[in-house]
Amino acid sequence: MRTTRRSQPAWYARAVIDKTLRVLVTGATGFVGQALLPALIAQGHTVRATTRDLSRSKSIEGVEWVRCDVNRADELRRALEGIDAVFFLVHAMGSGSHDYVDAERRVAESLRDEAAQAGVKRMVYLGGVAPAGAMSEHLKSRLAVGEVLRSGPVPTLELRASMIIGNGSASWQIVRDLAMRLPAMLLPSWTSSRTCPIALDDVIVALVRALDVPAPRGVWYDIPGPDVLSGRQILSAIAALKGRRVPGIPVPFLSVSLSSWWLKLVTRADFSLARELVLGFKGDLLPTDDRYWTEIDYRPQWTFEAAAKRALAEEELVFSARGIVGKLEETVVQLVSPKLRR
Ligand SMILES: NC(=O)c1ccc[n+]([C@@H]2O[C@H](COP(=O)([O-])OP(=O)(O)OC[C@H]3O[C@@H](n4cnc5c(N)ncnc54)[C@H](OP(=O)(O)O)[C@@H]3O)[C@@H](O)[C@H]2O)c1
Repeated sequence: MRTTRRSQPAWYARAVIDKTLRVLVTGATGFVGQALLPALIAQGHTVRATTRDLSRSKSIEGVEWVRCDVNRADELRRALEGIDAVFFLVHAMGSGSHDYVDAERRVAESLRDEAAQAGVKRMVYLGGVAPAGAMSEHLKSRLAVGEVLRSGPVPTLELRASMIIGNGSASWQIVRDLAMRLPAMLLPSWTSSRTCPIALDDVIVALVRALDVPAPRGVWYDIPGPDVLSGRQILSAIAALKGRRVPGIPVPFLSVSLSSWWLKLVTRADFSLARELVLGFKGDLLPTDDRYWTEIDYRPQWTFEAAAKRALAEEELVFSARGIVGKLEETVVQLVSPKLRR
């Protein structure tokens, strides 16, 4: 459901002006959550962050960490005590659980009810863009979570992103590995699907400003990046940024399963994650519109190329998940594969 701009409730305007929001960030150890914490602190909010394992928490001044498995209503209830606004950044994709769709729905119902009970005044949920055609279980589940959260009494704003570009993003890591680890690229038909990737920094602006956007009965917006690109264009652009010319070999009949095995072999993704990515990309994954940027008076600052360049530079500083073996593989591949003429 879309809404037009309305005046904000008095408590809300006061809280924002006074910078007194007490904000709960779930999924705070994740790719998006980690970047959101300092941005909220910089805005003057008081932040509580959740993880299932406190040893994963990073000490940030002004952030209180609490243990919370969102499947457990008692832990959720404790985490929500005294909270004004909640960011929901948890997903179960790649958990390997066969009933994760049901589990995500139950979690959303529990959060919807517990948040209302705790007197929360705003929820912000980061989900995924709805595809034009058939839907993967993951995307179906992401949309269902948004619907459940928006159906409750707490004003809830759902933001829908396609691939988020940044070092540490699971979907970015898959396309980056595909582009960097092979001397030639297999191009199944799904790589011609188009999407609108968005840089992590722009997502963070979208999330932080979501606290100010009216959402009286629940509302959703797409948050597209500035470029519309096919999977093939994304792979070629990443390879080119590293000075590689990677010949493409169309394999239009490669099945979802074979594609997923191929991704599992080549990239750092596990099979279930790879499969969800392939299934999610069977058709175009394009936003409906970019009205959200007008709503918050902001335009995405990062082109795909600029965001990808930065993500590649950042990963150079970080020890790769597969360590020396991964680095060696890539070095060998890059030595034998064709180079771009400069
Ligand atoms: N990355 C992308 O390209 C992308 C694109 C579109 C939309 N999104 C959406 O953005 C949101 C954040 O994604 P992300 O990439 O930051 O995810 P991520 O890096 O995989 O992090 C997931 C987070 O979920 C937490 N979590 C998982 N199961 C949990 C449970 N049972 N209870 C409590 N916490 C749990 C994990 O925390 P602990 O393990 O510490 O408990 C972790 O912090 C998701 O809603 C996702 O759908 C992401």
